[in-house]
This record gives sequence, structure tokens and C-alpha cells, in this order.
Amino acid sequence: MARKILIGVAWPYANGYQHLGHLAGAYLPPDIFARYQRLAGNDVLMVSGSDAHGTPITVRADAEGVTPREIFERYHKTFLETYQQIGLTFDLFTHTDTENHHRVSQGIFLKTLENGYLYKEVQRQLYSPQEGRFLPDRYVEGTCPNCGFPDARGDQCDNCGKLLEPSELIGPRSKASGDTALEVRDTEHYFLDLARLHDELEAYLSTGKEHWRPQVINFARNYVQSGLHGRPITRDIDWGIPLPLPGYEGKRLYVWFEAVIGYFSASIEWARNQGTPEAWQAWWYDPAALTYYFIGKDNIPFHTVIWPAELLAVGKIYCDDCETNLNLPYDVPANEYLNFRGGKFSKSRGAFVDVPYFLSRYDPDPLRYYLTATAPETRDTEFSWDDFVERNNNELVATWGNLANRMLSFAYKRFDGRVPEPGELDAEDRALLAKVEAGFETVGELYNACKFRAALGEAMGLAREANGYLDRKAPWFQIKEDRQVAATSVYVILRVVDNLKTLLAPVLPHTAQRLHEYLGYDGQLFGTQQVVEYEEETRSHEALTYDHSGAVGTWSKSALPAGQALREPGPLFKKLDESVVEEEYARLEG
Ligand code: MF3
Ligand code: ZN
Repeated sequence: MARKILIGVAWPYANGYQHLGHLAGAYLPPDIFARYQRLAGNDVLMVSGSDAHGTPITVRADAEGVTPREIFERYHKTFLETYQQIGLTFDLFTHTDTENHHRVSQGIFLKTLENGYLYKEVQRQLYSPQEGRFLPDRYVEGTCPNCGFPDARGDQCDNCGKLLEPSELIGPRSKASGDTALEVRDTEHYFLDLARLHDELEAYLSTGKEHWRPQVINFARNYVQSGLHGRPITRDIDWGIPLPLPGYEGKRLYVWFEAVIGYFSASIEWARNQGTPEAWQAWWYDPAALTYYFIGKDNIPFHTVIWPAELLAVGKIYCDDCETNLNLPYDVPANEYLNFRGGKFSKSRGAFVDVPYFLSRYDPDPLRYYLTATAPETRDTEFSWDDFVERNNNELVATWGNLANRMLSFAYKRFDGRVPEPGELDAEDRALLAKVEAGFETVGELYNACKFRAALGEAMGLAREANGYLDRKAPWFQIKEDRQVAATSVYVILRVVDNLKTLLAPVLPHTAQRLHEYLGYDGQLFGTQQVVEYEEETRSHEALTYDHSGAVGTWSKSALPAGQALREPGPLFKKLDESVVEEEYARLEG
């Protein structure tokens, strides 16, 4: 039975190019998961979009002397392009400045208020007399009261992950002007009543979380145990979603209150675009649907506590006859960080590799391979150009690419461009096939459990087994003595390659498609991506979409027919010259 699987992917701030750490942390893993689930026959809805609001955008706009809209539109466009290039198959990648998202966020605000989970309170906020304004969130930096990190931001400490208020920072300073003579002034805001949700959140986090990554569930439980108090969900700022109430003209919804609502509003937007406006309900109101959120570790509190709190507080919305509340996260497989040069990717440290640059020089599948083989699933890992070149050459090319290419070329040249007719399979032939076919269970379970690094390792292990078989059989010698014996070996290897094509397809979709064609099959393993422009009442917006309807790929064993006409093969992967390493580091120094 097909399962409904909702995949939420962290909404990236559209204030700069994404770097390899973003891809490894939150963007590539959900695509691998989505592709696996679609092959397995499940109904995936994968949504995300550009986070257009918040001080990350306005700080950048101030620095460049342009409007926040210019910033987010510019980077939204780059996200659409790079996600298409690397093949991130979002059913919808939209943004948070759509009329739909404004309306849904305001609707949730009002419903939460009506349900009694919002209250008003005067809050002490930092005010810069020099700049003549309140300084929310990332306009302030200072020392973390929790861990002593000297450069904590007003919204969160990057070192320990703790959520903060600017007024909690020790020695706060304005990020824009450096002003340290900040005053505390009173301003009234709406608060989400987390304390009232404590018991429900605790109950939600206390059972059925065995499949959660330990660092994620531990953080969430500690956060709830440490005592929940109300969080302000409005800000004194003019870029963002207005409050749907009179008298609050100078205030906006806090970006973290509304961005997470994007998962919900984007599902609604997707359904409407499909011409089936109610279709989203199957992913949100059916308790059998599973909801996954793929994020980086700094987003853990928002997705394991704040977003569930919002969902619990809003109750039912936009569905009169639904019996249950909106679904809570089934899993939040947050990643640790992929670092570079001993710390986070950072322009100022000369340790930045942005995704558009990377894709202008290297193919998407080697990048997907590398980021999965080194995925920071349990701890931080480290990117280096040496490691990228080495893994590309010694693993991807040597173990997998060569296996496929050697046998496809051999069959194409020596067996008249067809899959050879095998003789009787011997014990070794059968053992190899059985072992690789068992991968549909073992590798599939690992993908399904969000253990992508292990899934890839398992599949590559099978490729190594196949190489061992090939070395022992050596069909290029066999053919000199007995063409039928060689035909059998080649047939077995082509079947193995066909199986490995599928086992690796979630990670390596572009080359899997090419292999599929070299093996003589027709059709697309996966669906097609397209950037579309949507008209709303007062403005239009661009979004990335995905159509799976014509896809032929399935998570099933190869039934490659003998005699099938092959297509002339070409190399799947390129060996990289060692000089790449020096070149890339020189560019960073330059
Ligand atoms: N924009 C946030 C970030 O880049 C992530 C937001 S995830 C969302 O850290 F769900 F809140 F949108
Ligand atoms: Zn800290």
C-alpha cells in the first residue's frame, strides 16, 4: 500500500549563495529520501521555499543599500537554478512572500489567538539611540549567557544552539553600527504560550521516538525539560508579514513563527496548482501519513518544539470534517555540520565553496556522491578538495564507473550491441546475483531509516563484490576460449549493473538515467522539473515544481532481457586531475 510521505526541507534564507555545508546538511538528504520513497511506490510531497523575511535578509539589504525584496528575489532565483542543476526534486519550492503564505500565516495567527495560545506582554527590547530604532534578533551580537561564546547572535547562539533574546546577551552591541550604548526600552508583543503547551509537548516527545537520531531527541527533551516560557512572535520591523489586526502597523510576524508555517502553506499552494485544492489534506490530516523534516542542527529547537507547539495550538484549520489535528513531525533527521578548513564555511575566513561555483566546474552526481559518503549524520565532518578528488577517483570512478563502463563497452563491442544470451549460471554467478538482489532489502531499509551514508556504503560494497567477481571471471580472457562462458559472465555483470543502477539511483540520479539508456531501456526513471510562474492577485512568483507522473523507475530487481539492444555507452564519471586540489585552494587564497 502506498504511503503518504510529507517531506519538509528547511527554508533557506535567501540572503546569499548556498555553500556545500547547506547541501550536505539539509538539502541533498531529503532529495535522496524522496527519490527512494518514490521508487518504492510511496506518495511523496516534498515542499520548501526561500525564507524571504527576517533580519538575515534586512541586514544584508542594509549592507548593500538595496531593498530586502531585491535581496530575496535575487537569491531565490539562484536557488531555483542550482536546485534544478543538482536535481533536488521538490514538488514545490516556493517562497514566503507569496500572498498564499501571508494569508495562511495570518490565518494561523488568528486561530492560535482564538484558541487562547497567544498573549500580549510588554517586553524589554534593545534600542539603539544612535540608530533611532529597536534592534531585533540579528541586529545584535554579544556574549552567549549559556556557553560564553563571544559572537552569539540576538536570536540564537551558533556555538551551543540555544535560542536567545537580544536582551539576554552579555555586552550586547549593534551589528550595523557597533553601538554598545544600547538602552532597554519597553515594547508590546504577542507571545506564543509555550508554557501552556508544556505537557502536550512532553507527551509528544516522550514516546515513539526510538527512530530519532539521539542528538535530536536529546536536544528536544532537554529544551522542554529546562522549562518552557512564552516566546515573542512579533517584531518591531517593517519587512515581513503584517499582523492581521488593526493597531499593529509597525509590527510584523516573527520570521520563525511564519517560516515554519511554510510547510503547510506550500502544501496548500501545491494542491491548488495541481487543480485539486483539497489534496494537501491527505498529508496533513491523515494520521497514517508520515511527516519528515530535514534540517541542519541549528534548526532543531524550531522543528522539534516550536513548530509542534504551533501545530498543537492551532488545532484544526481549513478542514471542517477532519477528525484529527494537523500531523506532528514523525521524524526530524537533522544533520550536524559539514565544515571546511576547520570550521564552518565562511567567506571571511577564505573557506567558502558556493554551490553555483561548484556546479560550474563539476558534475552534480560526483558532488551528490561525495556529500553522501561524508554526510554529517552523527557528527560534524569536513570537506576538503583532496578528499573530493580522491573519493571521486578511487571510489566513484574506480569502483562503480569503471565496472559499468567496462562491461557495457565490452558487451556493446563484442556481443553485437546486445545483452548476451547467457548459458547456465554457475554457483558463483548465482551467488553474486543473489547478494546484489538482497540489496533491495538492506539498502532500502537504510534509505528508509534516513541512514544515507550507510545505504551508499552498502551499495558500494556490492559494487566491490562485483569487481571481485569480474577479476576472477575475466570475460576478456574467457571470450578467447569459450564465447558462451564469457557471455554468461557479461550477462551476470550487466544484470548486476542494472540492479546497482537502481540501488544507487537516489544518490546518483543523473548517471542512473544514462545507465538506464545505455542498457537499452526507454523512459525516465524519475519525473521532470520545471520552473513555473504563478499569478496571484497582486503579483506573480516563480517556483520550482516536479512532475512524477511519467516516471518509470521502481525499487525492484533487474529483469534485464537477453538480446535487448544496448545503446553506445560513454563514460559515466570523469577522473579528476590532482592539480584540481591546488587550483581550488589557490583560488581561495587569491
Ligand atoms: N531560514 C532558516 C535558516 O536558514 C530556516 C527556516 S526553516 C523553516 O536557518 F522551516 F522555518 F522555514
Ligand atoms: Zn552558546
